[in-house]
Amino acid sequence: MDTFLIEGGKRLEGSLRVFGSKNAALPEMCAALLTNQPVTLRDVPNLADIKSLRNLLGELGCIGEHSGPAGQAIMRLHTQDESHEKSHARYEIVRTMRASISTLGPMVARRGFARVSMPGGCAIGDRPVDLHLRGLAALGAEITLDGGDITARAPKKGLKGATIFLGGQFGSTVLGTANVMCAATLAKGTTVIESAACEPEIVDLAVMLIKMGAKISGHGSPRLVIEGVDELKGVDHAVMADRIEAGTFMLAAAITNGDITLENCPIDAMLAVKAKLLAMGIHLAVTPGANNNLLRAAVRVTSARTLKPVEFTTQPHPGFPTDIQAQMMATLTLADGNSVITERIFPERFLHVAELSRMGAKLMRQGATVIVSGVKKLVGAPVMASDLRASAGLVLAGLAAEGTTIINRVYHLDRGYEKMEDRLAKLGASIRRVDDKDLPANLTGGAD
Ligand code: EPZ
Repeated sequence: MDTFLIEGGKRLEGSLRVFGSKNAALPEMCAALLTNQPVTLRDVPNLADIKSLRNLLGELGCIGEHSGPAGQAIMRLHTQDESHEKSHARYEIVRTMRASISTLGPMVARRGFARVSMPGGCAIGDRPVDLHLRGLAALGAEITLDGGDITARAPKKGLKGATIFLGGQFGSTVLGTANVMCAATLAKGTTVIESAACEPEIVDLAVMLIKMGAKISGHGSPRLVIEGVDELKGVDHAVMADRIEAGTFMLAAAITNGDITLENCPIDAMLAVKAKLLAMGIHLAVTPGANNNLLRAAVRVTSARTLKPVEFTTQPHPGFPTDIQAQMMATLTLADGNSVITERIFPERFLHVAELSRMGAKLMRQGATVIVSGVKKLVGAPVMASDLRASAGLVLAGLAAEGTTIINRVYHLDRGYEKMEDRLAKLGASIRRVDDKDLPANLTGGAD
């Protein structure tokens, strides 16, 4: 099994291009099920989750091919078989990639039928889909659950627009909004989604759907209005840049006291992160992209020698993103003072706490809050990756730690970061991918 071997203490310097967003590309790939015309998506990262979804779409009658240079690869999708036999998203795939749930809305709207395995929980929580189902039922879909599968059937005359409150106990749902918005584009009449997710990836999906002929307004606000149309056409769409990857690399610069310039950086989609980084003493010099585009800007990241502590709570967008919580915690372990981190989206998203503590971090968890007492240094150790973003946090800690850090089970990281070790090595990090069988005996470790 692959591990990362990191020798800490190297300052990162240089520039790198931010790749296309996994969390925009996944629902946008599912939107290819809304039309029988060709869909081209540009800047689709080559990640395990993307590959899983392409395989699943193939089983759903949507043929795909993905080729091109790292970070600028093109995904070409074309739905050619919309039979009910080809409308079953099997458990074997869904259990490995919960974003498969985003095939439900497009299929039931276009084909009148969909069968999607209920996604299970994962390392960061039980991940229910009740809001997805509530939204689709409001559009007239008949939803049944049997044998672990969700079956959705549209009435003979198709789905019908409705006014839907999609808020849950944690606020809005990102993929739930994607599912219901996609379905509503082909429903008859007007749909209002109140308490819709405002995430930039949802805005990017709406922009793609509008290019396909959908009539959507309010994207980026909590109130989405969709006028149904009879059908949608093909599209050629460039996926937005990945704000979570950008935030991760900004913190890699900060934790190594480095100097990195990020190209193609969606700085305007990460203002909550920018505010916290500035409060920590991290400097961001922003140069807008072509046509003054602040979603594809160049951002030079440097930092004060000693970082200041901060407090933050993860929130739905435009609040601080939960997907950067672990990376911030890793960085704040070396700040000069006590920081307070509260996780409001996935209250169990703290699997990185025990692993960072193995490296000498001083962390005290009280429920959904962790107090981070800054320490002078971290010490390299064998640690265990558990979920995608926790793994990224451990990489950051390893970059700054004294000595060698081994990160086991980096397949978690491969789900969300393309060639991370190559890109960090290009910036001067001492990091390489090693099969754990080839590790010297004294370097393996971590609980099994
Ligand atoms: C998306 O997941 C992202 N994944 C997650 O990123 C991200 O952490 C999450 O949004 C929150 O920003 C993709 O976009 C592929 P939610 P999603 O529905 O849509 C509860 C990563 O690391 N909820 O917005 O599945 C849920 O339990 C991943 O890239 C319900 O109660 O998340 C959570 O507490 C991890 N019922 C909260 O809402 C529902 O029907 C937000 O979940 C749906 C969600």
